Amino acid sequence: MSEQDVDKSRRRFLTAATTVVGAIGAGVVAVPFVGSMVPSARALSAGASVEVDISKLEPGRRLVVEWRKQPVWVLHRTQQNLDDLAKLEDKLADTESNSSKQPAYAKNKHRAIKPEYLVVIGICTHLGCSPQYRPEVGNVDFDSGWLGGFFCACHGSKFDLAGRVYAGVPAPTNLVIPPYMYINNDKVVLIGEDGGVV
Ligand code: FES
Repeated sequence: MSEQDVDKSRRRFLTAATTVVGAIGAGVVAVPFVGSMVPSARALSAGASVEVDISKLEPGRRLVVEWRKQPVWVLHRTQQNLDDLAKLEDKLADTESNSSKQPAYAKNKHRAIKPEYLVVIGICTHLGCSPQYRPEVGNVDFDSGWLGGFFCACHGSKFDLAGRVYAGVPAPTNLVIPPYMYINNDKVVLIGEDGGVV
């Protein structure tokens, strides 16, 4: 795929992103989209934040919302997911996220405020495609020892369930973590505002 094709692909995705409800990836996970996303009063004043209700987001499931015309994923990781992150470290390019973008409060081994919830911008750091959520474990079409993560089909970049990029793929850095914080007794994630650790 050429860079021009990738740009077109990305534009199509972003255009469709406000209306799509469906599964992304190998049909393994339904992706509820936008339904729980509402602009907050703070968002309206800031013009840049989005509230995401995570109170019904079950382990293993992911919400996809739009923030600043970018897809943002909110993934409820299972304990197994968290345990598996540690097994991947020798396969990653930037395990400690030293060369990657995230708020200081998400520069940790889970790249998150709370380990169980990953909040990440769903745009590949290579040329901007949106990777697939591939939570299955085992021998998959692009990796014989896959432990779940995100796969960018444009040029084969792989990311773990913390958005950390594998070594030896085209994407140079981990997926970007946006600013976010928890509100409403931690039932809502507010994307676009820095709240730090709660
Ligand atoms: S855009 Fe090239 S690998 Fe993702």
